[in-house]
Amino acid sequence: MKKHERMKEIYESGAVPWDQTDPPPEVMDLVAHLPAGRALDLGCGYGRATIYLAQLGWQVDGVDFVAQAIDGAKLRAVQAGVSDRAHFFQSGVTQLDYLEKPYDFALDVGCAHSLTLKELQAYYQELLRLLKPGAIFMLFAHLNEETDEREERNWMDETALRTIFAEGFHLEKAEYGQTQVNDQTPWRSAWFWFRKDA
Ligand SMILES: C[S@@+](CC[C@H](N)C(=O)[O-])C[C@H]1O[C@@H](n2cnc3c(N)ncnc32)[C@H](O)[C@@H]1O
Repeated sequence: MKKHERMKEIYESGAVPWDQTDPPPEVMDLVAHLPAGRALDLGCGYGRATIYLAQLGWQVDGVDFVAQAIDGAKLRAVQAGVSDRAHFFQSGVTQLDYLEKPYDFALDVGCAHSLTLKELQAYYQELLRLLKPGAIFMLFAHLNEETDEREERNWMDETALRTIFAEGFHLEKAEYGQTQVNDQTPWRSAWFWFRKDA
């Protein structure tokens, strides 16, 4: 099944594992120390991070390729009273030519890990174009496990990620953990904090 269809089915099922009010604590901790500016939420889902940032005074653009996610995010932004600061676009994250630079912060919670390497290159090119020098790009990803044959699906190839982003960004921090979705076997995962070179 294609990735978009798989995601669309998750939204249509009504059982969306990441449908929570707040963004992950790692995101809340980081933005507590950042002055409000312009932010980009890649694979924004129902917009929990976009809306949270907008409530803190940020101007935020959220992008997701599933229409139901974008419709839900727009509705929630209206309900939260931040529709003037939270804007949503139904689009893939590898072609963002309709967005204008510069952004002070980019966030990806669980989107880029389903891109192919070619798509990851295109995604990187967009971030390189869109982010301000010194901007932070924060990424949460499930990681490939070479020894794991449970799934045919590939998650993020960490070596490729580090290699691609080595040009124009530097990795300030990585934190490793495990993530469990519903009752599935836990996956190795990580948070990455990249900074765009000055
Ligand atoms: C695991 S969900 C997380 C959603 C949101 N970041 C959150 O934390 O609530 C990943 C999201 O990325 C979106 N996505 C995956 N691949 C995408 C792509 N190539 N372009 C745009 N959106 C994508 C999915 O539709 C889904 O909403």
